[in-house]
Amino acid sequence: MNQSLSQRCHAYVSEHFAREDETLRYVRQQTAARGLPQISLEPNEAKLLHLLVRLCGAARVVEVGTLAGYSGICIARALPDDGQLITIEVSSLHAEVARAHFEYAGLADKVTVLQGAGVDVLPKLAADAPYDFMFIDADKGNYHNYLAWAADHLRIGGVVMADNAFWGGGIFDPKSDDDHAMVAFNLSLAEHPRFDSTIIEVGDGIAVGVKTC
Ligand code: DHB
Ligand code: MG
Repeated sequence: MNQSLSQRCHAYVSEHFAREDETLRYVRQQTAARGLPQISLEPNEAKLLHLLVRLCGAARVVEVGTLAGYSGICIARALPDDGQLITIEVSSLHAEVARAHFEYAGLADKVTVLQGAGVDVLPKLAADAPYDFMFIDADKGNYHNYLAWAADHLRIGGVVMADNAFWGGGIFDPKSDDDHAMVAFNLSLAEHPRFDSTIIEVGDGIAVGVKTC
């Protein structure tokens, strides 16, 4: 597809299927206003995340990398009444902002924000496995650890999804540690014996895998 057609298609999906409501607009605006990095999912990616959570009937979801709660709101909105999202955030400021945003969105009863590094907090969640869905959008150098955790703690048929699979193009000519980490993550997911997977070409690339065994 040529560039301008693909841009039109992207805008078309954004306009008709992924329009941000007042809550998501507020959260995006507050993310900037409070000085947090403006690296939340774009609306089309967020809608895809929402839809995948719903599609697999997920009730118990783990997210690594809460930031301001934008993606978490999209996840929590796809959960059944008794569904639960546990979201892990390394920054105490981000965790505090996100808690306020889950409250603002009327989702505080469905979401638990745990403050700490993903690699430290995930082991504490193991006792309550299996989970239905895991969304990874955190430190790229640990994506392989998060994938290993997903392989061991998702149910069969559970889904792992990861942001930044294309890493802004860094995977094509890897130089930094993060570039190499994303190359390794993508290839390990592609060849993983326990996941059937692909990368969806939306935003910065959304890697998706369903656990088969
Ligand atoms: C960065 C991290 C992200 O998860 C993202 O979506 C974009 C940028 C970063 O660390 O630069
Ligand atoms: Mg990201």
